[in-house]
Amino acid sequence: MNTLVQRAIKVLSDNDRNGYTIPSAKLYPYQWNWDSCFIALGLATVDEHRAWRELRFLLRGQWPDGMLPHIVFHRVDPTYFPGPEVWGVDHSPPTSGITQPPLLATAIRLIHEKARDRHTAKRAVLEFLPKILAYHRWLYRVRDPEGTGLVAILHPWESGLDNSPAWDESLARVEVRNGSPIRRSDTGYVPPDERPQQQDYDRYLALVDQLRRLSYHPTRTYAASAFRVVCVGFNAVLQRANKDLLHLVDQVNFHEGKAEIEGWIARTAAGFETLWDAGTGFYLSLDLIGNSPISVPTSAGFLPLFAAIPSSSRALAMLARLEEWASRTQHLVPSLDPSNPRFERKRYWRGPVWININWMIAEGLQGYDHAQWAERIRHDSLNLLAGAGFREFYDPMDGVGLGGERFSWSAAIALLWNRQPEPDYHPPQTKCPQ
Ligand code: GLC
Repeated sequence: MNTLVQRAIKVLSDNDRNGYTIPSAKLYPYQWNWDSCFIALGLATVDEHRAWRELRFLLRGQWPDGMLPHIVFHRVDPTYFPGPEVWGVDHSPPTSGITQPPLLATAIRLIHEKARDRHTAKRAVLEFLPKILAYHRWLYRVRDPEGTGLVAILHPWESGLDNSPAWDESLARVEVRNGSPIRRSDTGYVPPDERPQQQDYDRYLALVDQLRRLSYHPTRTYAASAFRVVCVGFNAVLQRANKDLLHLVDQVNFHEGKAEIEGWIARTAAGFETLWDAGTGFYLSLDLIGNSPISVPTSAGFLPLFAAIPSSSRALAMLARLEEWASRTQHLVPSLDPSNPRFERKRYWRGPVWININWMIAEGLQGYDHAQWAERIRHDSLNLLAGAGFREFYDPMDGVGLGGERFSWSAAIALLWNRQPEPDYHPPQTKCPQ
């Protein structure tokens, strides 16, 4: 078996906590929402039962109103900040109080499609469908109360692109008063110049404090939040998930909700028309408080391809941007346009390459018949993984690995891109305490 695959399997098995997988030891010791979706996709190439289990563990964190939290704190690890005591959420298992890009339906569709154990796969889909429907209903009801088809995020962490320069102006509105004492642990594990600056971190925590003070009340938090943004990446992932959800309900003859899903798809497609910036040939996020497009071209602007949103002529305009970015970097896809003054090649989401984003962009391009570009991104990504290991992110100029080490979603995507038939995966045997 090829060694990249073997090493990837080892990372996932070492990060396995008997049923769920942490993104990276020390830095992220809990279960993260969209991480687990990528991880399940990778795990499914070697052990599909373990993949279903990953998602079942994630859903243990789902709130009664449908919200799927961004972190599930299955067992307390005092080294992580902000832990369950800062979020103050009354749920068992404890969770954070915000969500993340809703990749779950897509993960389930792709795992179901390739599953060898058809019986278990169908049972899993039937088990998960009502929960995903509840999640999407929550997103549209609570985060798009005006029915624009585009859902809002109330915290940069909900975008999954936490420290993106696209959030700078919106985040600057957040006032920092005496909030929870900040005990950052991330900069103890990763050089500070690869992590968010303190002033941003203070605002992230101020937003958490406000959400907690409002007891995460859906309408009050939406109205009161100083940060309210339509993230182009989040909405693209949602639209792709809607389409995968529609496919799944047809596959298993689960007709409840079908018309509703079709309605979401139509509304979100219309919403995306307002995010297209014809001047630059790119999709942009939107600041809902200032009611203005955010003219910072990040790699999330390519994610509508993943949801087959752009027409083929728009896709071509986007490829012209990608070509420009490629001419200024050695490794695709940087998280920010390298000619943008905010570009920082080493800092978290402000320039580096992320393998999970690359996978989604490449998947999208494949669907547009731009297979040569998809292949180039895949090739660049596999080179980074082979040369610098399974890191959290990579310098787009010299390919140096950055951020967390032995990173689960990077390993999972190596498996996805290198499907191997014979499993050699042994999850740990220890019992989870709860
Ligand atoms: C960082 C990333 C986020 C990810 C988390 C765990 O916070 O920005 O997208 O889910 O790490 O890997």
